[in-house]
Amino acid sequence: MLNVTIDGRAISVREGTTILGAARQAGVSIPTLCYLKHVSNIGSCRVCAIEVEGRSELVTACNTPVAEGMVVTTDSERVRSSRKTALELILARHGLDSTNYCFSCVKNGACELQTVCREQGVVESPYYVAQPRKAVLDSNPFLRFDPNLCIACQRCVGACNRAARNHTLHTSKRGVRTAIEAPFGENWRATDCENCGNCAQACPTGAITEKRRASYREWETRKVQTTCPHCAVGCQLNLVVKDNRIVDTEGVAGPSNHSMLCVKGRSASFDFVHSPERLRTPLIKNKQTGEFEEASWDEALHYVASNFTRIKQQVGPDALAAFACSRSTNEDVYMLQKMARCAFGTNNVDNCARV
Ligand code: FES
Repeated sequence: MLNVTIDGRAISVREGTTILGAARQAGVSIPTLCYLKHVSNIGSCRVCAIEVEGRSELVTACNTPVAEGMVVTTDSERVRSSRKTALELILARHGLDSTNYCFSCVKNGACELQTVCREQGVVESPYYVAQPRKAVLDSNPFLRFDPNLCIACQRCVGACNRAARNHTLHTSKRGVRTAIEAPFGENWRATDCENCGNCAQACPTGAITEKRRASYREWETRKVQTTCPHCAVGCQLNLVVKDNRIVDTEGVAGPSNHSMLCVKGRSASFDFVHSPERLRTPLIKNKQTGEFEEASWDEALHYVASNFTRIKQQVGPDALAAFACSRSTNEDVYMLQKMARCAFGTNNVDNCARV
């Protein structure tokens, strides 16, 4: 353990902890933009710069490890001034103008740049970046990239390469000309992009967004945390609900997914909830017509149980097997194997949770 003092608060942290991590443990807030846990710690935005006693320059808290006896100041005049300048430069690059302003942005209310600027009292930038308007990449059916709103934090690149390991987003050029190359243009089908949307979730502004985000604003929604209904990994996600309808999902920091989702979890977890084609009653096939017909639960359960019993009596218990769905809960799967062993009298049990 290492001893560190942050804004006068003495704490001990594990070796390898960053100053940002130590500050969060101590309950001290340091603003961040380009940092995202498990995704990016490139230290490019400098919004988290703080003072360390004995160091002449400010250091970035998000990627500087704590050293024994470190004394950190996060809220001095020098830090506030540096933070303000960093945000003003980022805001200049963000390129707000009459066609491109917060009210028209689908991330309005959920934009981290907006939030950090508001918290730090930055409402406009005295700087101007001469940059021609760039074309919005809009061909991908799920994702949209507006490079004019990009602040080059590279969190999307980290989400794609370091976290999801798809390696389809990358940067081009360097320094202030750094640009994100996102595969959402005409040739999107020719790329390896899986449309997982982790880049959009990582983006702090409205540069990369899920297209369905246009159907709601953050303050119109409530969020319901649940487990992804697809494979057995058990990723945690929020269902984003507007007017009692699920309009979106977002990854939550669960133990197995660390806020990431695959394309199924993010984009195939909710449309069926409101589908008029959902089965709402049991169906039994009419053997004369070959058509499924609606039945009551009592009829359906009796039909299934009597046929299991008939097969067991005629052929023996090992003619039966129980195969559990990986989307079921542990408790349901336990009950199924119990039914197979105790009621069917067979050890033929398996499940599809190996995907
Ligand atoms: Fe630390 Fe951007 S959050 S440099």
